[in-house]
Amino acid sequence: MKDVYILGIESSCDETSISIVKNGCEEIATTVLTQMDTHALYGGVVPEIASRMHTENITMVLEDLLSKANMDVSDVDAIAVTYAPGLLGSLLVGVEFAKVLALVYDKPLIATHHIAGHIYSNQLVKKMEFPLLALVVSGGHTELVLMEDDYKFKVLGTTKDDAIGECFDKVARVLGLPYPGGPNVEKCAKDGKPTYELPKPMDNDELDFSFSGLKSAIINLNHNEIQRGNEVRKSDLASSFQHVAFDQITRKTKLAIERYNIKRVIVAGGVSASAFLREEMKKLCDSLEVDLCIPPMRYCTDNATMIACAAYPQYLRGDFADFSLRAKSQEYFFQDSQNISKEDGQ
Ligand code: KG4
Ligand code: ZN
Repeated sequence: MKDVYILGIESSCDETSISIVKNGCEEIATTVLTQMDTHALYGGVVPEIASRMHTENITMVLEDLLSKANMDVSDVDAIAVTYAPGLLGSLLVGVEFAKVLALVYDKPLIATHHIAGHIYSNQLVKKMEFPLLALVVSGGHTELVLMEDDYKFKVLGTTKDDAIGECFDKVARVLGLPYPGGPNVEKCAKDGKPTYELPKPMDNDELDFSFSGLKSAIINLNHNEIQRGNEVRKSDLASSFQHVAFDQITRKTKLAIERYNIKRVIVAGGVSASAFLREEMKKLCDSLEVDLCIPPMRYCTDNATMIACAAYPQYLRGDFADFSLRAKSQEYFFQDSQNISKEDGQ
């Protein structure tokens, strides 16, 4: 079969990224321009600034990518773009840019979901073999998903309230840590010990998750200590939080592995950048003799390489978008698979 080159575009938050990937698994070249330093000045992503910076930078990012790849847009087989979810103004820049490229170069357009990107970034490490269990941990998702084939998802467990990344970001704010929240909680926790007693959420045999009780416990603990005039040991609190949050993740993953006789696990989403989680997942999968795949750090944070990977199965089945494609700030990735989700009685 002829090789397929897909040019992927990602601009859902504060990274402008374009990549070319061959056959959904071989990175030719990628450029990522992060706006992190700018948004850190404001303590979080400022949507208006993000979209303006994407607009200013996207052409330069494309030029840089093409020179690294030593290719032209006319050499690729399709243009893929993240259309959801994310900041609407940021997504719009990528989507409209992708449409222009597709129109000018007469290429098919592929609308790819950001979470599909995180899942398919595993293809860059090794070919995904099905069935497998995907642990999806991001700012908007916390799911255990059984994948029986490409784009065939059965949600075994999901969060009843907040996503884990959202919880990390909130805890970072409570502790007065700078943006971005997750990595800074991790950094802060390195100097601490898990000495604070926190509630152990979902201490049962369900596969669902819950993070809002843990979040409230941290807010209350922090508030009470301040009221009493006590110093909050930030690094100990960050460490205690990390332990309890990731303990829930590994406990539920272990349950799912045992219940569904899983042999392969992949981890996807921004929270998989956590060294703590990576280590805990490795320990778990080693002890259960399960094959584990976690993408290298550069593919865990937002990038267009993963988008070009996730677009490949879409390309093969002719799942193309037309020029009416619109960016969507919210779209639950697994909603199309709801009919096959959640086993009865689980
Ligand atoms: O997958 P992602 O890009 O978000 C969505 O697409 O929703 O991941 C971003 C999330 C943020 O909530 C961020 O705080 C979290 O991933 N994150 C981390 C770490 N690095 C990023 N959380 C915990 N530890 C980290 N090292
Ligand atoms: Zn992401």
